[in-house]
Amino acid sequence: MAKRKLIYDCDPGHDDAVALTLAAGSPELELLGVTVVAGNQTLDNTVRNACHVLQWLGREEVTVYGGCGRPMVRDRVTAGDIHGKTGLDGPVFPPLRKTPEQEHAVSFLIRALLASDGDVVVVTSGPMTNLAMALRMNPEIAGKIQRIVLMGGSCTNGNVTPAAEFNILADPEAAHICFTSGRPITMIGLDVTRKVLCYPEIVERMARADTRASRLFVDLMGHFCKTQKEVFGWEGGPLHDPVTIASLLDPALVTVKPMNVRIDLSHGDSYGRTNCDCFGYLGLPATADVAVDIDVGRFWDIIETGLRRYD
Ligand code: RIB
Ligand code: CA
Repeated sequence: MAKRKLIYDCDPGHDDAVALTLAAGSPELELLGVTVVAGNQTLDNTVRNACHVLQWLGREEVTVYGGCGRPMVRDRVTAGDIHGKTGLDGPVFPPLRKTPEQEHAVSFLIRALLASDGDVVVVTSGPMTNLAMALRMNPEIAGKIQRIVLMGGSCTNGNVTPAAEFNILADPEAAHICFTSGRPITMIGLDVTRKVLCYPEIVERMARADTRASRLFVDLMGHFCKTQKEVFGWEGGPLHDPVTIASLLDPALVTVKPMNVRIDLSHGDSYGRTNCDCFGYLGLPATADVAVDIDVGRFWDIIETGLRRYD
């Protein structure tokens, strides 16, 4: 079966790091490059974190491109309360050898997509700034994106404000550009990611894989689950970002419902909300396939398989 080609745009970030582990280790996927954006932490931190993870996994050949250090319009927000000062607090990595490419992430996105046969999935698990900037700089790339799969948004409430989820709120205008690009979109929101809670027994299960990836997973979850408990009271941290990659590995993993989704750009209490017309009240065409359910057991099987791909 032909490998699925993807570009992974992220803001590592503990859950991004697990998604990157899946993307870089799954033989079903061809990871064309990793583009990094400011989000969970500042760009210097998120770029360094992506390089640390790939070096630790022994996948230094995967190219990393630094992207936008701030949102398109609004002020920059970060999530140090969850991910710490480095954006990847917890794991202790060896001295960093791997460096990012000189080329800017937006330039890479444009170049790689234009050179493609239109068979590239762009996965985003941070603010959508890089992809939005690429779409604005060279609108031709839209026709070359097979699908956008994002972690972000929610049909109900948010996780930063009552209305908005972090990735969308961190750059609502960028999300708007991506959601109105005309390309097929799969929105993996809090509605399903809050169902994959990484309980202690899950961490113990993954530790038994006894690979470099599983050891990283345990160290990542040590910090991530602690802060998720402190901030939200979760008994297990919701493993948001890997659901995107896992849904490429098993399309039956998530149940999606086509909906009209519009990003609230008003500067009131709902700024950054994904207004998901779950019941078609507005009679408008669907603009995204929104994940409404997930096979939780299958998800953890995919995670375990992904961690065992490494030595
Ligand atoms: O709201 C959760 C999302 O925001 C995840 O992608 C997490 O890594 C942060 O970027
Ligand atoms: Ca993220």
